[in-house]
Amino acid sequence: MADESPKRSPLIDTSVPHSARIWNYWLGGKDNYPVDREAGDQYLRVYPGIVNIARNGRQFLRRSVRYLAGEAGVRQFLDCGTGLPTADNTHEVAQRVAPDSHIVYVDHDPLVLEQAKDLLTSTPEGATSYIQADLNDPAEILGLASGGLDLDRPVALLFMGVLGHVDRYEDALSIVRTLMAGLAPGSYLALYDSTDADAALNQAQQEYDDTGAVPYRLRKPEQIKAYFDGLDVAEPGVVACEDWRPETQTPGGSPRTSTLCGVGRKP
Ligand SMILES: C[S@@+](CC[C@H](N)C(=O)[O-])C[C@H]1O[C@@H](n2cnc3c(N)ncnc32)[C@H](O)[C@@H]1O
Repeated sequence: MADESPKRSPLIDTSVPHSARIWNYWLGGKDNYPVDREAGDQYLRVYPGIVNIARNGRQFLRRSVRYLAGEAGVRQFLDCGTGLPTADNTHEVAQRVAPDSHIVYVDHDPLVLEQAKDLLTSTPEGATSYIQADLNDPAEILGLASGGLDLDRPVALLFMGVLGHVDRYEDALSIVRTLMAGLAPGSYLALYDSTDADAALNQAQQEYDDTGAVPYRLRKPEQIKAYFDGLDVAEPGVVACEDWRPETQTPGGSPRTSTLCGVGRKP
């Protein structure tokens, strides 16, 4: 039988499940290993709704980036916690609306780095680049990002399904604040993250965290809302991903999830 796992690099640890690869598995991708599929299936047994969280999150990414490049007129994007390339990566969505958009991707996973060539296509008028860096060092991220972005002009800072990887909420808040402080007025924050509102999700997450993978911390809804303090939050506010400017009506309604998302502008 053909081996459908991605080619192994000595840098990649395939003995423990990894967030980007499990996420890729839930989104229907092929960049994952047996250990990731096992952990992903175990999670699904306890909480089948995780697939909707992953899909609704990606749909929020598409809609919010379209809004930012379109109505909001942003031409620069700093996408932190990029994940493995998939359909409609940030630069593809932004450059479809505004071909002169510049995108800098940030992730710390060596597998994402290996696959980054798929993230580095660009329109001739725009540009994309990738930096391997850790969210826990926002000053380094700002320094490296200034190579691909003009930080004196507005930038959209994206944290799509990643801030729960920062263990302590205070640290996650400080990362958001430090990065936003380094960006020009008129910059935007766009993010989605999972809340602790659903007991079954809490249980699945606890079992996942016990596998030895990097844990993902579910936050209280008011903690996610507080990321936007001091920003002008775009309508409809900080809401479930499926309720943020939905473009199509899913028959029977969109699957409900306990994630929250929003877009806010730095005055
Ligand atoms: C759940 S995936 C989300 C991927 C994508 N943003 C999406 O919405 O589909 C989380 C990503 O964050 C990355 N990540 C986790 N902790 C990180 C850290 N401390 N620094 C940089 N990236 C991190 C992981 O490698 C993974 O690619």
